[in-house]
Amino acid sequence: MQVESGVFSKLLEHYVTVPILSFAVYTVILVGYRLFFSPLAKFPGPRIAAATSWYEFYHDYFRKGKYVFKIKEMHDQYGPIVRITPHELSIHDPEFYNQINVSGSVRKTDNYDGFARGIDFEGTHFLSISHDLHRHRRKPLEPFFSRAGVTRLEPMVADVAKRFVQRLESYQGTNQVIRLDHAYVALAADVVGKICFESNSSMIDEPNFGVEWYDLLHNFIHSLPLVMAFPQLINLINLIPSKMLHWLDSRLVTFERFKNFARQHIIDAKRELEEKPDHIAFETRNSVFRHLLTSGLPESDLSVERLTREAQIFLGAGSISAARTLDFISYYIISRKDYLERLQEELAPLMKGFPETMPSFVELEKLPFLQALIKEGLRLSYGVMHRMPRVSPDTSIRYKDWIIPPGIAIGMSAYMNHTDPNIYPEPFVFNPDRWTNDVTPAMTRCLVPFSKGSRNCLGMNLAYMELYKTLSIVFRPGAPSLELFETDESDIVQAHDYIIPLPRLDSKGLRVKVV
Ligand code: HEM
Repeated sequence: MQVESGVFSKLLEHYVTVPILSFAVYTVILVGYRLFFSPLAKFPGPRIAAATSWYEFYHDYFRKGKYVFKIKEMHDQYGPIVRITPHELSIHDPEFYNQINVSGSVRKTDNYDGFARGIDFEGTHFLSISHDLHRHRRKPLEPFFSRAGVTRLEPMVADVAKRFVQRLESYQGTNQVIRLDHAYVALAADVVGKICFESNSSMIDEPNFGVEWYDLLHNFIHSLPLVMAFPQLINLINLIPSKMLHWLDSRLVTFERFKNFARQHIIDAKRELEEKPDHIAFETRNSVFRHLLTSGLPESDLSVERLTREAQIFLGAGSISAARTLDFISYYIISRKDYLERLQEELAPLMKGFPETMPSFVELEKLPFLQALIKEGLRLSYGVMHRMPRVSPDTSIRYKDWIIPPGIAIGMSAYMNHTDPNIYPEPFVFNPDRWTNDVTPAMTRCLVPFSKGSRNCLGMNLAYMELYKTLSIVFRPGAPSLELFETDESDIVQAHDYIIPLPRLDSKGLRVKVV
């Protein structure tokens, strides 16, 4: 008996104590390296953030997207450059934003490989790490999303916006409460659905504005701090048969549906191109994939699998940010009668022929108050609140007295730019008039909702077109009025950074009645 217990304790020592001790020694060496020998060791910041990524995880996962506010506090305490994780620096200096987010002619910009891992978008242009691979995959997309490219899409966007208001106005006088935030996601998803798979179906016309897609996007956004901290999770999830996943979460069926639409469209477009390679007729339709298939990308980058992932990026990026910006601006137009009146006065000459005729995007862009509302909306809804880490792969970057070696991730946040009181006095006040009087060059330079440089938002022109067209129709003179229902500013103001900013998590959304 004694012999057995001696063997047992030896085994215990071997299989439990040794791994624990090894892990402890490894941790001490790792933390010691990070604190004293890493190329980032000389940069200021709290030791805990330099020692471990668990600090960020704590603030983003347990405190629900709050690390961005902690980073702001670090800047207040330590200055404009701080080390915020063992591998990343943050710079808070709006005037330096355009030195970090540069075009390829200035410097190469890699993606930080620790960013957005685990979200299952590998192989897309968005997550291509090396500058050259990103350029190679993004360049063929640029003509489609260029100013000239989106002008071709204008009739489609106008048509979706018109159908949107028809649906909205069908509620007039019914006293029914509508989730305008759901409706805007449906609008943006319909636009991007046309681009990704020439969709004929319409979320706008679904009874609840296709709320499953809204829920799915928001579920995805909420999972980001977890999957980004544990990227291996996605491999585990991918091992679960799709039938079982659908059983676990029925909303995933919606995702699968969209993915399959995009997949089928890509397969059909490829077949069509092989059968009738009439490039001109083929390319002049609305699908980005028809355009990509004739763009000269090598066959290896035109696999159905990779293109389907690109479609997922467009569906996600294209529906959520545009809709959040529309929510934000609409809230202030609805809640401020004076804003609505000024906007309607400005729109009156152009909208008098509606619905038979509609002003063009170019005409709408020239309206100063509409432009000011959109700028202020983009400023305070931030676009992406999270820092977007950039890596200069082969040249060091000088910031004041600091030399940042190549290969180091540097993040800057639009949130910090847009709320800097030196550039935008009373930064948290929604005040479109700051864009109508005495606009300083710094105000324009530091407004970066679409980011800047070679990795900026590909859909920027399309997003502007959606904003101008939709707001001008929804708030045109003579349109039925929208009345807020139990909704206040706290349902709109961005309070959580899940890469995409969200308002307080217990908000019941932007609710309105059409009267
Ligand atoms: C108001 C609406 C929108 C805002 C504020 C916005 C903002 C942004 C921002 C800040 C980025 C990140 C760039 C970076 O990495 O620094 C981004 C990326 C991107 N956005 Fe948008 N976006 C909007 C609408 C759209 C639309 C409608 C599309 C169209 C499908 C789109 C497609 C993309 C794509 C594909 C990327 C990745 C670009 C790349 O990595 O090269 N976005 N967007």
